[in-house]
Amino acid sequence: MQDFTFHNPVKILFGKGQISSLAQEIPANARVLMTYGGGSIQRNGVYEQVVDALGDRSVIEFGGIDPNPKLEMLIEAIEIARANEVDFLLAVGGGSVIDATKFIAAAVHFEGDPWDILAKRAPICSVLPLGTVITLPATGSEMNRFFVITKEVTQEKIACGNEQVFPQFSVLDPETTFSLPARHISNGIVDAFTHTVEQYLTYPVNSPLQDRMAESILQTLIEEGPKTLAHPTDYDARANVMWCAAMALNGLIGAGVPQDWATHAIGHELTALYQLDHAQTLAVVLPRLLQVKQDSKYAKLLQYAERVWGLSAGDEKSRIMEAIELTTQFFESVGVQTRLSHYGVDSNAGQIIAKKLEKQGATNLGEHQDISPSDVEKILVMSA
Ligand code: NZQ
Ligand code: ZN
Repeated sequence: MQDFTFHNPVKILFGKGQISSLAQEIPANARVLMTYGGGSIQRNGVYEQVVDALGDRSVIEFGGIDPNPKLEMLIEAIEIARANEVDFLLAVGGGSVIDATKFIAAAVHFEGDPWDILAKRAPICSVLPLGTVITLPATGSEMNRFFVITKEVTQEKIACGNEQVFPQFSVLDPETTFSLPARHISNGIVDAFTHTVEQYLTYPVNSPLQDRMAESILQTLIEEGPKTLAHPTDYDARANVMWCAAMALNGLIGAGVPQDWATHAIGHELTALYQLDHAQTLAVVLPRLLQVKQDSKYAKLLQYAERVWGLSAGDEKSRIMEAIELTTQFFESVGVQTRLSHYGVDSNAGQIIAKKLEKQGATNLGEHQDISPSDVEKILVMSA
């Protein structure tokens, strides 16, 4: 096992009716900026529950945050937070709202261009405290230190991690997700699955506990994902998927093991250029990436084939190919297509993205830093 530091300070308030617990988590005299997206929380009753829980605290609202949150819009939120001397941020929504709120928290006291926090990894000194009410199980943003922001003018989508933006608490009430359209539940299953794979399907470092935790998340998603799609208000199935999504990217399964993240890096480019949903990009990239990198991932792919898909007979190469095929079929069975052509992306996307990554200096992706722009092109051509 590799050396590691593990730190996760996020308090999780899980279950029905937990939104009311906000009252105990946010100081009574806080000046709160409440952030949300395009209106789902007003339609499903979450907004009312949050407003009730906040009671007579001073609250300013900033709504309308789009999926794949944009810098251009968040600048306005930063100015509102500054002008009103906000001292607590409450994000209510999916990963986009939470990521946007982490960025606002980091930017309010930042001197200079806030984009530098992402593009130049500029150090941030004082970050506003934040809490979240997550309404879409997918990203794990509710329990991690990552945020992903897009600069629309330059078509850049950049991920960043900072210990200071961990939420202080997150409310996970599975009932808030009952109103989700199937597309976003499907996306969430694929996103959590891919987060797990990015930290698991690399090379062995003798980490049986992390491996088995990762395999448990994958198997639970394979079992519970279809159930929650078929029965959207089955509380238990939704609760299980919600906890999988949080566990997949809260640092635990990635502690002490090599990590890949090339699928995500390529995926962010696909979203920035062609506006695919985040999970759609992962479903397109991951199976072909596993195929291209099968030699360097050989031992873990065999383990994945056996322990996740029950493939232990036949020659090793065909087991690996079968496991990759079953992964593709799983993504499609939960409603996320795995071919670029399905999303109307033309066949030169591979070349365009390879060039863009080269220009950014992102020429060495993956756990061995051996995924070059030409590999990326190959992967995307195979995914056409
Ligand atoms: O905007 P509203 O009206 O709220 O509608 C949203 C949005 O249209 C809707 N929605 C959310 N909860 C709902 C609901 N509709 C009905 N009922 C509910 N309960 O769902 C739509 C998509 O929401 P979004 O937040 O964009 O989805 P997701 O949670 O998948 O977040 C995607 C973003 O997170 C980033 C992605 O790159 C993308 O920008 N990621 C963040 C990560 C992190 N912070 O750790 C890691 C991930 O790999 C990912 O990169
Ligand atoms: Zn993701």
